[in-house]
Amino acid sequence: MMKAAIMGFGTVGSGVYEVLDRNADVVAKNAGDAIEVKYILDLRDFPDAPYQEKFIKDFAIIENDPEVSLVAETMGGKGAAYEFTKRCLLAGKHVVTSNKELVATHGAELLAIAKEKNVNYLFEASVGGGIPIIRPMFQCLTANHMTHITGILNGTTNYILTRMIGAGLDFETALKEAQAKGYAEANPAADVEGMDACRKICILSAIAYGDHVYPEFVETEGITKITLQDVEYAAQANCVVKLLGRAVSNADETFYAFVAPHFVAKTCPLACVDDVFNAIMVTGDMLGDSMFYGQGAGKLATASAVVADLIDCARHQAKRRDIGWGDGSRKLVRPLDSFASKWYIRLSGADAANKLAGQFPGCEMLESVQEGEAACITGELTTAEMKQAQEALGNVLGCMRML
Ligand code: HSE
Repeated sequence: MMKAAIMGFGTVGSGVYEVLDRNADVVAKNAGDAIEVKYILDLRDFPDAPYQEKFIKDFAIIENDPEVSLVAETMGGKGAAYEFTKRCLLAGKHVVTSNKELVATHGAELLAIAKEKNVNYLFEASVGGGIPIIRPMFQCLTANHMTHITGILNGTTNYILTRMIGAGLDFETALKEAQAKGYAEANPAADVEGMDACRKICILSAIAYGDHVYPEFVETEGITKITLQDVEYAAQANCVVKLLGRAVSNADETFYAFVAPHFVAKTCPLACVDDVFNAIMVTGDMLGDSMFYGQGAGKLATASAVVADLIDCARHQAKRRDIGWGDGSRKLVRPLDSFASKWYIRLSGADAANKLAGQFPGCEMLESVQEGEAACITGELTTAEMKQAQEALGNVLGCMRML
């Protein structure tokens, strides 16, 4: 019998307990031994939980119990979660996590400690919830140069955009609906401003390119400025609006990494990924495109990935998984100024159509959805060129890359 601890008994942590309990047979079979939760660490009380004896408030009990070899960190954040994770690894315990903020911020350091202590630090649930993506990238795709990673990495924003597109709700109404359904947090900033997707593309880029990518290296724009007019123009261009996390490699080992809303052609498989689902398209130079699709969030879906990591730790107690990346350097992440795309741009003013046609010769004009404005799809322009054009034009109501 192997002993485990769960740190943080919120949605994912309680899901981890439930998966270990309900699927104890398959967990034991696949881990080679049963996994029993000895402690649940949380500062809150859970008077309705039947296993009261397992709840503790003092982390040192886990740290100092040699019987506990497996720890699931489902606390979130990078405060106590960082300290406790580090101390568990230093104490020679395997740690698994769903905490993308911690992996994106301190992954290189924690992975180095895990290596030094010959234990595992695994984080399959940190990107895409229950979708297998971390292991495929570390294992199945490693004969490829991963040229592009393109992901719908945040379920909350994908739900909001789906409702704006499908039901004609404006952003605020769709957000309130997402909150009522329990998808969006009371404070939805990390989701709608793109930070959650940013942390996830940091992790995927670090795996693909071998060096830590810190969130501050990644230009990030959320969906708060998207309007129903943008959605209508997208439909005219046979596109839908999606928030994408992207990484694109260059020939010189640098890469671009960024998060932004995009016009995505309806013919692209990512355009059909709706509601709270996530999908990650990984393009390898040998494989071509592959897409990983499924439940990007949710209690049991995310917990299933956390428990799979616990099982993997149980199987790799002696010979740890060689998962990790280097310290990271800002020089590897190229500023977006030189990245070229086609663009959608929307301008206000009685002469907006003429101004767009003058600024972007040969552009595809869209039919105006409101008096006193115009919109078009440009040819390929770098980000720097688009910024200059916007300054010259003034009165820009909306602007997005085309995928
Ligand atoms: N808030 C996240 C989302 C949860 O909406 O996708 C999973 O990371």
